[in-house]
Amino acid sequence: MKTENLAKIFSTLHIKKGWQSHREGQLVGSSHLEMGTSRPEDYEIFAEFRGVLMDKRFTKYWDDVETFLARPDDIVIATYPKSGTTWVSEIVYMIYKEGDVEKCKEDAIFNRVPHLECRYEELINGVRQLKEKESPRIVKTHLPPKLLPASFWEKNCKMIYICRNAKDVVVSYYHFIQMIVSYPNPESFSEFAEKFMQGQVLYGSWYDHVKSWWKKSKNSRILFVFYEDMIEDIRREVIKLIEFLGKKPSEELIDKIIQHTSFQEMRNNPSTNYTTMPEDMMTHKVSPFMRKGIVGDWKNHFTVALREKFDEHYEQQMKECTLKFREEL
Ligand code: A3P
Repeated sequence: MKTENLAKIFSTLHIKKGWQSHREGQLVGSSHLEMGTSRPEDYEIFAEFRGVLMDKRFTKYWDDVETFLARPDDIVIATYPKSGTTWVSEIVYMIYKEGDVEKCKEDAIFNRVPHLECRYEELINGVRQLKEKESPRIVKTHLPPKLLPASFWEKNCKMIYICRNAKDVVVSYYHFIQMIVSYPNPESFSEFAEKFMQGQVLYGSWYDHVKSWWKKSKNSRILFVFYEDMIEDIRREVIKLIEFLGKKPSEELIDKIIQHTSFQEMRNNPSTNYTTMPEDMMTHKVSPFMRKGIVGDWKNHFTVALREKFDEHYEQQMKECTLKFREEL
């Protein structure tokens, strides 16, 4: 990572706190060089880990994740990538801060809601960020249930799983991967969709992910939320979230949350739109993080042939599952 970008990290108000604590650690050594900030040619930075394709830099110190100590009042926000994680994280944070927008703007979302398993040597360390947080902590993860640290199950923590229809996830993921400078660029959308179908993308098979979390959702401590439902009726879903967290859904709080977490607001807000990430980690030149925020963008990406192939494969993968998604509203 270039020095000027490190300087940018430290001087950026919105992310100051979390990253400064990294600086107090070992960041100012050479470990950041191991991040590999030039684009790799192929998928060599990923490897199968307990049946799931993972970033090797995340799994290098897996002991830290596996032995993570949950606290009973932790809230876990679990998703397959690109399913609305940031949106729900901001809503939950707003609920905890009782609608205080200024408190939500004090730091970037990736510091306020640390990504548990995200690890790039000493530069990014979700486990450490979480350990340093006061309770109640909001924990972001993309892990399937079998890889989630046992402590979260033992402590019976509340969890929110957000899911989104597979086709819109592929599209969003395709654009997102191109933003991440250290990830290989997919050659074409159809090639990426093929990898997605085979589970050969970061976090593995979407089908296994949603199915295994769906099985867990019989547990009343786990709330299942659909991205499409949020787009359809955000008020209804916000009330559900507030009640799930054991708070009172006052009209004032609901209105504030809806206003502050609208796509437009979050897109223009540096503490939620990821623009405070250094440009040589995440580049917004190819695509903004807050891209479209709609249901059905897949129609602009799938050819008829690809759609048919995808649907056929989908039927196979999901035939035993009662989980149903909406691909359009
Ligand atoms: P698109 O790429 O389809 O626009 P995640 O946070 O899990 O990475 O998900 C990112 C996706 O959620 C992106 O989808 C992003 O635009 C969308 N998103 C984020 N905040 C949103 C909001 N407030 N309303 C609607 N969509 C939102």
